[in-house]
Amino acid sequence: MRLLVCGGAGFIGSHFVRIRAREHGDEVTVLDKLTYAGREENLADVRDAAGFRFVHGAIEDADAVADAVEGADAIVNFAAETHVDRSIAEPDAFVRTHALGTYTLLEAARAAGVRYVQVSTDEVYGSIEEGTFTEESPLAPSSPYSATKAGADLLVLGYVHTYGMEALIVRGSNNYGPYQYPEKLIPLMVLNALHGDKLPVYGDGQQVRNWIHATDFARAIGHVLDHGVPGEVYNAGGPDECPNLDVVLRIIELTGGSDDLIEYVTDRPGHDRRYSLSSDKVRALGWEPRVRFHDGLAETVAWYRDNAAWWEPIRSGEYRAYYERHYGRALG
Ligand code: NAD
Ligand code: DAU
Repeated sequence: MRLLVCGGAGFIGSHFVRIRAREHGDEVTVLDKLTYAGREENLADVRDAAGFRFVHGAIEDADAVADAVEGADAIVNFAAETHVDRSIAEPDAFVRTHALGTYTLLEAARAAGVRYVQVSTDEVYGSIEEGTFTEESPLAPSSPYSATKAGADLLVLGYVHTYGMEALIVRGSNNYGPYQYPEKLIPLMVLNALHGDKLPVYGDGQQVRNWIHATDFARAIGHVLDHGVPGEVYNAGGPDECPNLDVVLRIIELTGGSDDLIEYVTDRPGHDRRYSLSSDKVRALGWEPRVRFHDGLAETVAWYRDNAAWWEPIRSGEYRAYYERHYGRALG
């Protein structure tokens, strides 16, 4: 296939590109704005793959999209602002990228008559104290991040209903693995623990997340692209749920740190208590997760330990300013 992958220089998108180019032999064009979270280095090992092309541009820029979509058989959209804390502090880019960007891509897919896959999140369902979300669960997003992602999902479904577009949505749970920007819980805690810095746990640390390895989520998206029914939504959740504090304690164990590093800080406003996804529908298409959280977390910690060249430039750049803005007061 010839794929246009939007946001392919980010964390999950780069895993997806690697799998599709290397294992499926797809010809991939990546369209990416290279925000603070996007890095061409994430694609270093696919740059020489047959048919690979990188286009620097935003999904809300119709000209850039028209250039990138040329010759594509399908569009897969990962491009997004993805950090909940940043959406609380500065929602502007979230609205623009998720609303205007998704609209621009849908128009391009409609004009080209190609299949469209929207990468979405379990956060559109809101928080669930008990039980598990299915694709039929109502949307009840609780942050600017999840509200704008839900808006994008509804726009996709509106295009399916109105224009009969061949579009599909995949909603994933919390991803982890190599190449994740260290603003997110796991890489942040790993790098802080390796440096002997404080580990800022929000509230009581008993919030539960449903962890999925990024390669498993990338494969689920590929499965939906190849075998999904147009117009349908598919959840793809990980095999294991875990409270945040247990994640942090395991990272301390894996890095040889001390529990004294833990610092309980003011909770995130509107913090969702628990996410849990039923993935029966995508499993019925033949997908299943391969990586258990216990093993995947150990491999991820080892990857960060061995790949300082990847994260050192990040820790000294924009990230440092963000970190001081966000955690400065709480961590002194
Ligand atoms: P990320 O922040 O690592 O990467 C996002 C990528 O999108 C970056 O390369 C960035 O440069 C690019 N981008 C941002 N705005 C853009 C724009 N306007 N135009 C073009 N490119 C733009 O994100 P991620 O964690 O890899 O998430 C990818 C997708 O998966 C997102 O849609 C996210 O909502 C979804 N998702 C993420 C998770 C998770 O746990 N990380 C879970 C479920 C779903
Ligand atoms: O559920 C899928 C979502 O998972 C994706 O759609 C988002 O793009 C992705 O960022 C992630 O959202 P979360 O808010 O769950 O992830 P984050 O890594 O920010 O936080 C995970 C949990 O850890 C959450 O309960 C908040 C907590 N946390 C996070 C940070 C950064 C802390 O306790 N301390 C921290 O410093």
